[in-house]
Amino acid sequence: MTPEHGNGRTLRARDPVAADHLAGAPEQAATPVPSVPAGWDRSADLTKPPATIPDPAQVEVPEDLRREIEEHMAKYPDRRSAALPALAAAQRVHGWCSPEAIAQVAAVMRVTPAYLSSVVTFYDMLNSEPVGRHYVYVCTSVSCHLRNAQALADAMKAALEPGDDINVREFECLGACDMAPMCDVDGRYIGPVDPSEAPDVIAAVREGRTPLPGRGLGDDGFHLPWEQES
Ligand code: FES
Repeated sequence: MTPEHGNGRTLRARDPVAADHLAGAPEQAATPVPSVPAGWDRSADLTKPPATIPDPAQVEVPEDLRREIEEHMAKYPDRRSAALPALAAAQRVHGWCSPEAIAQVAAVMRVTPAYLSSVVTFYDMLNSEPVGRHYVYVCTSVSCHLRNAQALADAMKAALEPGDDINVREFECLGACDMAPMCDVDGRYIGPVDPSEAPDVIAAVREGRTPLPGRGLGDDGFHLPWEQES
């Protein structure tokens, strides 16, 4: 494979989105662009050459990540349908959807980094900046709110210590209202959780332990306090 694409520019692994003229392109920093409100994407710079697909030969991709992305691609008739699980896999490896992570997914999926950037900036469980490798999403929607979820969210935030690699945030209904108040800890639903248990939960995440064993949906013997034990 040639390291050069289209306009003759060379892609390098350490400058993975250099050929991308849309959001997130390092080169864009040198180009004056109008400021935009928070949460809005910058507009495309139409004076730059079109986005290109990274040359797979120029982008190193961890073997496990490559295999997982290819497995996701194999499930769909259109490989672009695998963008969400592929980006989620890259986020687990890199901690966030960094330019390097996006370039690796783009190289395997054979799409432009710009296409993937547009997906990352749309979905709020994909992080376009480093916010923490682990996450604790505290549901503060109606059912949980009525059962003291705000105090739980505040207690989780208060339990964080400097240097914690944990993203604690309030979240909309996570679809487990019968566990209220509940939270999603790295994909595991726990609940009901009392605010007094928040330091325990955060310490467990920090130390790599399972928070509140037996209190997670799917744990052996899990049942809600108001359910009959069978
Ligand atoms: S309101 Fe909290 S899970 Fe539905």
